[in-house]
Amino acid sequence: MTHGRYVYVHTFGCQMNVYDTERMFDALKSVDYEPTDDPAYADLIILNTCSVREKAEDKAFSMLGRYAALRENNPDLLLGLGGCMATRIREKVFKRGLPLDVVFGPDNIAELPELVAKASAKKGSRTSSVKFLPRNDYDFPIADAPTDGRVNSMVTVMKGCNKHCSFCIVPKTRGREVSKPPQMVVDEVATLVKAGVREVMLLGQNVNSYGHDLRDDEVDVDFAELLARVNEVEGLRRIRFTTSHPWDATEALAKAFGSLDKVMPYLHLPLQSGSDRVLEDMRRGYTVEEYLKLITRLRKYQPRIALSTDIIVGFPGETDEDFEKTIEVLHAVRYDSLFVFKYSPRPGTTASRLEDDVSPEAKQKRLERVLEVQNVYTNASLANFVGKEVDVLVEGPSQRPSSDGTMFQLMGRTDTNVIVNIDMDGSIGDPLSLIGEVVRAQITRSRKHSLAAELVSVPKTQQNQRPFFAV
Ligand code: SAH
Ligand code: F3S
Repeated sequence: MTHGRYVYVHTFGCQMNVYDTERMFDALKSVDYEPTDDPAYADLIILNTCSVREKAEDKAFSMLGRYAALRENNPDLLLGLGGCMATRIREKVFKRGLPLDVVFGPDNIAELPELVAKASAKKGSRTSSVKFLPRNDYDFPIADAPTDGRVNSMVTVMKGCNKHCSFCIVPKTRGREVSKPPQMVVDEVATLVKAGVREVMLLGQNVNSYGHDLRDDEVDVDFAELLARVNEVEGLRRIRFTTSHPWDATEALAKAFGSLDKVMPYLHLPLQSGSDRVLEDMRRGYTVEEYLKLITRLRKYQPRIALSTDIIVGFPGETDEDFEKTIEVLHAVRYDSLFVFKYSPRPGTTASRLEDDVSPEAKQKRLERVLEVQNVYTNASLANFVGKEVDVLVEGPSQRPSSDGTMFQLMGRTDTNVIVNIDMDGSIGDPLSLIGEVVRAQITRSRKHSLAAELVSVPKTQQNQRPFFAV
């Protein structure tokens, strides 16, 4: 074996990028690169970037400068740019004189070993591949079996986005939708389960349009059917997915929450705005009334469902009145949690032709107001757990010290995706044997973003049979 080298990846943005980063590690194994978490030791540093807001791009540029400075000590250090900025700026990065050796898009991860090998063979040579691959040529990167004992893992089920939300750059940076064939998804999940994974997060920019493109191959599987198939994977305990666009959330999807035992009662359903006029300018394809009907339907099939959302404040033309309508929806839905963003114009999007006319101060004020309103509901949703018994999938030892600083704690999540830290009183011989198990716990108190609990019971026969991992 040749002498191994180290790769460091700085991941920005969404979960899709987190998944892609792991596929980069998988791909680079073939050319003897091992992951490191210290950029100072790296022979190759990759920025896996996000273009959704300008701030994320600015941060990536500034980090690039910092990483390039490491060349002082390590002149052979290679720098790579991946993710959405790579497809947005393409080879222009070289013309701009940025200190990069390799540029590759999200569709080109499989080519990474070759690109890196070429760049390292000759100093100063620059390599790139930023083309979108059409359906028939698209080669989904598939997760290798993880070796770190993780309990949850992501699985990309489709790439790209065919929607036209006027503010969003993703359709430009990720290309057209391509669905991963259903059997491939099921096989990937089964591989992960064999390696100890018990919960999967299925990923797509809009999973509700999963399968539309598969009809060209006469495969008739929509997202609800994909869920049903993944639900059959033996040993898997929990399924989550993101993101769902309200526009094509079907009745079958809502039903899945009530009928498939592994589909967890948690859904992220981006609203963006509570004003019909703004929603229209955003080209979201639904009205507030339609959105609220969808929520009612979800709650009909799964009354316990936890909901989260995305809100954009300060979209062009958003008046105080429009904004108040967004606040009204927060009161009407009572989300369990949310993400709020200040509108950021993105080059080439339809909305970027509109004047960015909401002042930075007004955007800041609206953002704070959203957080203030939401805080009440988030706290109430957590407080509501106190005294109740819940099922917790144990993920590992807790990162935070227990209340008196001495007790060992396990960390896991409720089915509604809330973090729970469980005190272990010593009655369980080896608490780490509970990793990957669903245990019963009683919630003793709520904290800002998590819950504290005591263990009530563990499954009589541990179903685990996970491979052994040193923790
Ligand atoms: N379908 C993807 C969308 C990725 S963008 C998903 O929901 O994961 C994630 C969120 O970023 C969007 O829901 C939106 O709320 C926000 N966003 C997208 N473009 C934006 C922009 N130009 N300015 C501010 N926020 C934006
Ligand atoms: Fe973006 Fe809308 Fe697609 S937010 S990723 S264009 S669904």
